Amino acid sequence: MNTSLTLAQELDHQDELSSFHQQFHIPKDENGNDVIYLCGNSLGLMPKATSEYINQELEDWKNLGVEGHFMAKNPWMPYHEFLTKNMANVVGALPSEVVVMNSLTVNLHLLMVSFYRPTSNRYKILFDYSPFPSDRYAIASQVKFHGYDPADAMIELIPDSSDELVSIDNIKNILETQGNEIALILIGGVNYYTGQLYDIKTITQLGHAHGCVVGFDLAHAAGNIDLHLHEDGPDFAAWCSYKYLNSGPGSL
Ligand SMILES: Cc1ncc(COP(=O)(O)O)c(C=O)c1O
Repeated sequence: MNTSLTLAQELDHQDELSSFHQQFHIPKDENGNDVIYLCGNSLGLMPKATSEYINQELEDWKNLGVEGHFMAKNPWMPYHEFLTKNMANVVGALPSEVVVMNSLTVNLHLLMVSFYRPTSNRYKILFDYSPFPSDRYAIASQVKFHGYDPADAMIELIPDSSDELVSIDNIKNILETQGNEIALILIGGVNYYTGQLYDIKTITQLGHAHGCVVGFDLAHAAGNIDLHLHEDGPDFAAWCSYKYLNSGPGSL
């Protein structure tokens, strides 16, 4: 395989999005050169426009105080209304299906409060292989909140082989044997640890065919892959905006 610098530069040159590189601050290495930044899965780079946007809000706060809720250039009270349309485009949903609020883990908890409705026969949660650690804790705390034992109620996907990938047949088998006990399936659109891209539509259809609610943690998918949430039909999804959407740490 050709892995030369020349090929990389040539591919960059052909990429119609390559000019976007100029719109970000790139950290420097010890020799003062731009680093090659491959950590957008953790925290996206800072857009050059960010300072201007934040300063605008600080100015409005400084000059307007509480009136900024209604009179700021971008009034704060209905802030989510400015963000809904573009965010809906990012995840392939209808604007009425999307809202920008809270942090990801808070949203996962809120969504599980609504969508994880265990009964004495159907109370298990099928979740991603090696999920982000805080997802595992969030799932366990929801299970315990309803009086179940995480050791019994939490089913973690296990990769088919040493390549650490989980096949659709693997998920199908679990649903065929235990589907009637599974209340909720919660999987990443892209697994944070292995990078596996899951087939959201197929998993949703399989889950629904077995009477399960199906949700996705799209932290590593939003802004990274094409998403079609409306068409694919999962019951819910949550994601964050500080990775591939470059909105900054702690952003909604
Ligand atoms: C897949 C996944 N889920 C959940 C989280 C936790 O997100 P937050 O700390 O913003 O709630 C992360 C953070 O990196 C993540 O990658």
